[in-house]
Amino acid sequence: MSLHGVKIVGVGHYAPARVVTNHDLETWLDTSDEWITTRTGMKPRHWASEEEATSDLATDAASAALVHAGLSAQEVDCVIVATVTPDYDFPATACQVASKLGALDKPAFDIAIACSGFIYGLTVASGLIRSGVYRRVMLIGAESLSKILDKDDRSTAILFGDGAGAVILERSEEDSFLAADLGADGSRPELLYAQGSGARKPLDHAALDAKVHLIHMQGPETFKLAVTKMVESTDAVLGKAKLVKADVTFLIPHQANKRIIDAMARYLDVPADKVVVNIAEYGNTSAASIPMALSETVRAGIVKPGDIIIFVAFGGGLSWGAVAWRWAA
Ligand code: UT7
Repeated sequence: MSLHGVKIVGVGHYAPARVVTNHDLETWLDTSDEWITTRTGMKPRHWASEEEATSDLATDAASAALVHAGLSAQEVDCVIVATVTPDYDFPATACQVASKLGALDKPAFDIAIACSGFIYGLTVASGLIRSGVYRRVMLIGAESLSKILDKDDRSTAILFGDGAGAVILERSEEDSFLAADLGADGSRPELLYAQGSGARKPLDHAALDAKVHLIHMQGPETFKLAVTKMVESTDAVLGKAKLVKADVTFLIPHQANKRIIDAMARYLDVPADKVVVNIAEYGNTSAASIPMALSETVRAGIVKPGDIIIFVAFGGGLSWGAVAWRWAA
């Protein structure tokens, strides 16, 4: 039993100006627009410039959400950034974002759970509001994955893009948060990881030469697990929220591969017109993909009070999760 309800009062998103098309990738990789389009559904993706880092993308998305909500940064009680491409190992990117926004002296922290970051973040942020700790929380999913891509590895370089999506959550009489289902399995991190400067094996010249700081993924196995876990998590969250599939107005999945999304929707028996897909514009933006898709959908004016939205993701960890949300006025 929660003390309060929570609702979303503002959304915003941002993608860097630089657009990288499949044809651009063809110029230095042994790949083709045809392969990328048919195997992933991806067309252009956006890559940050040398000067841009994750906190810059996050700040732009958050500023758009503040304008959308008609709020100032000082009216936000806490800033959370979901990212695995932080500006620095520490301090948290959220601290940079809060300062840039002008949310001065407010608590700020990161959540690092890869593509599931927005789902975990939405659960944590909703919990902070529903339990009475804070009245308003800014939650941002933001990534500069291009900075940790091996641009010569065609199996990953074509997949990832940069961007940010933000939501402002606020205490409310109505409760939008219906249920969450979260999970993780850390037994095989190497399926999708960047060893980076982690303490397991501190970075040295040999490690840098071996590109351990860049993304490595075992694609086909990750693909199968992504479909299975996102289907299971969606079923579980519907059960917890006492909903049936026919109640779902929008399914907003993590955008990792159009074929993953299609397979999941098929297993779940959710019609294509209820599934939000923007992978052809942005590629896989990890923790940013769901809030970017939500922001686009809300700003298109098609989300109505009472609509049931299922957010669902799978990614590095391995990690997965789903949240059932009833849109409030
Ligand atoms: O965001 C977190 C979760 N992420 C995911 O869930 C991603 C999951 N994985 C995937 O989306 C897919 O596995 C990929 C898109 C990464 C790869 O697609 P795939 O259909 O699983 O291809 P594959 O890895 O089985 O490779 C098939 C063939 C191979 O060639 P051979 O051995 O059959 O001659 C690859 O070398 O395609 C080749 N290939 C490429 N060819 C052209 C791999 N990447 C490329 C490429 N262009 N970019």
